[in-house]
Amino acid sequence: MVAVGFGPGNLKCVGGRPMSITMHQGRQNPSYGRGVVDVGSIDLLDEQAVKVRLLEAIRAPSYQPPTLPAVAIEVLNLSQQPKVSFADVGKVLERDGMMTGQVLKLAQSPLFAGKQKVTSIHQAMVRLGLRTVRDLVVQVALQAKVFRCKPYAPAMESLRRHSTAVGHLARIITKYTSFDAEFAFLCGLLHDVGVAGCLLALAEHAKPGPPPPIEEAWPSVMAVHEQASELMAQNWALPPDVSIVLGAHHKVLVGGYPHPMAATILMADDLSRDLGFGLTYAPDQEASSGQVGLEPVRRQEVAKQLGLSEQQLELIAADTAALGDMLADM
Ligand SMILES: [Fe+2]
Ligand SMILES: [Fe+2]
Repeated sequence: MVAVGFGPGNLKCVGGRPMSITMHQGRQNPSYGRGVVDVGSIDLLDEQAVKVRLLEAIRAPSYQPPTLPAVAIEVLNLSQQPKVSFADVGKVLERDGMMTGQVLKLAQSPLFAGKQKVTSIHQAMVRLGLRTVRDLVVQVALQAKVFRCKPYAPAMESLRRHSTAVGHLARIITKYTSFDAEFAFLCGLLHDVGVAGCLLALAEHAKPGPPPPIEEAWPSVMAVHEQASELMAQNWALPPDVSIVLGAHHKVLVGGYPHPMAATILMADDLSRDLGFGLTYAPDQEASSGQVGLEPVRRQEVAKQLGLSEQQLELIAADTAALGDMLADM
């Protein structure tokens, strides 16, 4: 298993205490997350300084993000090969019974299978397609291994719900554009993974003491999460297209031009708030801790970038409302 560390990262000073960050989720390899950069004294309230330090940390060569299970990485790699059989993927999944069980459970949910009963991975691949099964594997892997951090449990739970909702919303948007639905789903699932990386780093650094309060850390984490997501995707060796989208999911511009998939994720992210699945650090803090929704003008701009008409936007709104019912007990 690989571990991810916010390598030599140093962030801030809590209560006058200089803070450096080391993060690693996988404990099997003691070399993970060892790099620590001394940031010296930085006022936690000086968000700009903290942001600079965080960015330095995630750009450092020794940065190592939290790990995805080996099985998930293998399935991702296999799915990129031009000729891959269901049997090949099945063999990889067989090695992780717990993951297979959870993938099957998800595959049977109304969000994927509708009324069809899916009882084996082979059946799931036949009915849902290889790439949907791949995305289910990623979803299960994120939930099991990445979106977990005891000291920041409410924020991680919000991140889990938000990421799943944005994945499904991104897929809905592609019904009205010419962009790839499963690629959108994968990018939606992963778009804010940098938030998990930052929170895990903060928690790991503080051991054995308590990590900084989430409300103090949150603005800095938000400021750098887009770049942290990109970096984690690179460290997981995900397809370059994925890391590009993750690194631009708020600003949308890549090389000075709007990137359609980044715009899709931004719109999905915005719609997730309408459903009550916005990202926040505590469930009861939605108004104050969540990312701010898009201004109406910006919404129109993004819709224009995606070539969506008023009528299509209404259809997306209707599909979004229907999705809300299905996500309710997620
Ligand atoms: Fe984000
Ligand atoms: Fe988001």
